[in-house]
Amino acid sequence: MKFIPYTILLLWTLLYGSDKYFDNHACQECHEKIYEEYQHSAHAKSYFNDELHRKIAQKAEPHTYTCARCHMPMADNLDDLMTGKAKPNPNNKTHTDGVSCYFCHTIAYVKRSHAFNINTSARQAENYKPTLYGGLKNPDKSDKHSSSKSPIYAKVVCTGCHAHKLNDYNVTVFRAMDKDQDSQSCIRCHMPQLSGGAEKINKRARAMHVSHKFLGIYDASFRATGLDINISIKPDRRGITVHLHNKMGHPLIIQPARVKYLKLSILRQGETLWQNYDKHPSEDHDAYFEYSYQDAQGKKIIIPATATSVKMNNLETNTTKTLHYKTPPLKKGDIIHATMYVRLAKEDCQAVVSLKDELFTKEFLLKEANLTVL
Ligand code: HEC
Ligand code: HEC
Ligand code: HEC
Ligand code: HEC
Ligand code: HEC
Repeated sequence: MKFIPYTILLLWTLLYGSDKYFDNHACQECHEKIYEEYQHSAHAKSYFNDELHRKIAQKAEPHTYTCARCHMPMADNLDDLMTGKAKPNPNNKTHTDGVSCYFCHTIAYVKRSHAFNINTSARQAENYKPTLYGGLKNPDKSDKHSSSKSPIYAKVVCTGCHAHKLNDYNVTVFRAMDKDQDSQSCIRCHMPQLSGGAEKINKRARAMHVSHKFLGIYDASFRATGLDINISIKPDRRGITVHLHNKMGHPLIIQPARVKYLKLSILRQGETLWQNYDKHPSEDHDAYFEYSYQDAQGKKIIIPATATSVKMNNLETNTTKTLHYKTPPLKKGDIIHATMYVRLAKEDCQAVVSLKDELFTKEFLLKEANLTVL
């Protein structure tokens, strides 16, 4: 295991050694709309303004910052960050830019690998304008860069960071993609076409550009599109069935901090007649979706870095889970509520890293469905 990081370090140094970096701000001048969208996206978040990421990083790796290869990929001293010789620096643009415009648009190749995939950037010849890869059919020449449509770019651009990550004990830390899945479906859902040209001068008067908001779990209306909930009543009227269907191009849970769960209740004349749990949603195991980690002694642990095994209750892409419940006899007029919630940081995770931002301490509505008994 140990030698792999050094091979990567060497690769990075060779590829990045002397390149000039065009920061996000340098793109704003011409790609104003895209810049604006991107600024509100998760990719613009960095070590310095993502409390959850920063606190887990400090717990998991008090002396090094290997998370940088995906969370701070443009760092001009990436090898020093990963070996602990340097710390994240709030005055360094290559640190504060997050998953930057320039990084994404110069990905030339993604090497598949067991523990995590590896992005390789296009080599930039000295004294030439950088070539940026994109999706336009006939990109104009610009005075800052030349452009090029690259099939490698469109196919694999998301796989370098999002596919999967294993820890040193071969335990899955996160997984969004299967081995042979490409990026096109990710782009279709997360980067839909929006009105307005791709750049300000808009010489060719394009009507549309691809969204750089990268909407995801933080957006209330977008997150409701990922899942269908269907409720039906058993023929004997002493129970209900709930179907949960995952419509997304990835499992319901991608990430170990998250939990998603179902709250199911029956109301009769405004009073709760029945609920699928008493105190905590985890009592309904089958409808409580999470990763849970154990150490070698079988003890539960929260930060996955040192876990030797993981148990998952997940819902794979395009699959349905059917849940059956026995209930008191149902009567005409009873109302059944089914609500899926998400916590961005589950409660035991909050306890370990003491989060302050209420984004991470609250539960959010994912999707709801209701049925009135006839
Ligand atoms: C001086 C203006 C200017 C600046 C600054 C600029 N661009 Fe562009 N860029 C353009 C123009 C003009 C086009 C062509 C747009 C068109 O054809 O509609 C373009 C096209 C693109 C494309 C599409 C390429 C393709 O082949 O589909 C990408 C990607 C891109 N720019 C990224 C960037 C990034 C990233 C930055 C910052 C590092 C940046 N640009 C800075 C003017 C600029
Ligand atoms: C192989 C690439 C990769 C590495 C290495 C990596 N991450 Fe991530 N991380 C991601 C991706 C991709 C996401 C977005 C996925 C998601 O939100 O489900 C993410 C999201 C996260 C989030 C959720 C952020 C939020 O606010 O919602 C946390 C926390 C996190 N990572 C912590 C870490 C820590 C700590 C490390 C280093 C110990 C690390 N990651 C290393 C790729 C990586
Ligand atoms: C250089 C690594 C990298 C690449 C390449 C990358 N991402 Fe990400 N992505 C991340 C990280 C890291 C995060 C989490 C950032 C955070 O929350 O701190 C993330 C977060 C996201 C999110 C979560 C948004 C949310 O609010 O829940 C979406 C959606 C996403 N990425 C889509 C994509 C798509 C689509 C592509 C390909 C076009 C892509 N990413 C390419 C690293 C990457
Ligand atoms: C059919 C539409 C669809 C496709 C295809 C799709 N996603 Fe998503 N994705 C969503 C929705 C909706 C959400 C937000 C709801 C949720 O996370 O439950 C989401 C959430 C995410 C998140 C945030 C998860 C979290 O917990 O922070 C990431 C990261 C992500 N997607 C990456 C990807 C990647 C990478 C691909 C390509 C393999 C992809 N998505 C394909 C619809 C899609
Ligand atoms: C997570 C990776 C990622 C990041 C970060 C990113 N882009 Fe893109 N961008 C893409 C992808 C993928 C496409 C092409 C989508 C497609 O296939 O149509 C694209 C398309 C474009 C285009 C062409 C517009 C079009 O309609 O096709 C421009 C211009 C562009 N990006 C500029 C930027 C700028 C400026 C930034 C930073 C403010 C940025 N990008 C950040 C992935 C990224």
